[in-house]
Amino acid sequence: MAPRLSLRVAATLVAAFAIAVSAEPSLQTATTSPAELDYLQFCSGCHQSDGSGSVSNHVPRLPGSVGHFTRSAKGRAFLVQVGGVAQAPISDAQVAALLNWMLPAFDRANLPADFTPYTVDEVTRARAHRPGDIAAARAQVVDTLKAQGIEVAKY
Ligand code: HEC
Repeated sequence: MAPRLSLRVAATLVAAFAIAVSAEPSLQTATTSPAELDYLQFCSGCHQSDGSGSVSNHVPRLPGSVGHFTRSAKGRAFLVQVGGVAQAPISDAQVAALLNWMLPAFDRANLPADFTPYTVDEVTRARAHRPGDIAAARAQVVDTLKAQGIEVAKY
């Protein structure tokens, strides 16, 4: 009796999974990279699938802004160290791939011409040495950008 019951449970689970997957056609397309899937799973709940964020929830807009942060070493580190990224339940290699997908996907126009992709080592180092006050770390980067006449998203 018991094995039959568990077979039935398994069949029900398989059916439920099939329904769940077919309800998310955008997650199945052949062109969706693992990095984009990580974004959709771990970031888009707050940042929206197009990166537009939410003013009322103080989630910053990424398009038209996030690329500028890569103009300095501190800014590059900040993108790894901000809470939603540093604490995402994904590996350093996945974070590197995610940022390397996200930056050109959302803000190619503001990526400096000499932008070099994140390496896993860079992510590991930045993630391991997060500043105590991430808002102050952002403010420093923003001030440096302002001095160069560059404005980034307010939130
Ligand atoms: C629970 C909501 C939430 C999740 C999930 C989340 N973020 Fe965020 N994100 C925020 C908020 C709020 C801020 C503003 C700074 C702060 O409060 O940490 C932010 C800041 C950022 C910034 C800095 C932008 C700036 O202008 O300062 C980046 C880049 C970013 N998030 C990317 C991501 C990525 C990539 C993921 C997924 C791995 C992610 N976030 C997951 C809410 C979230």
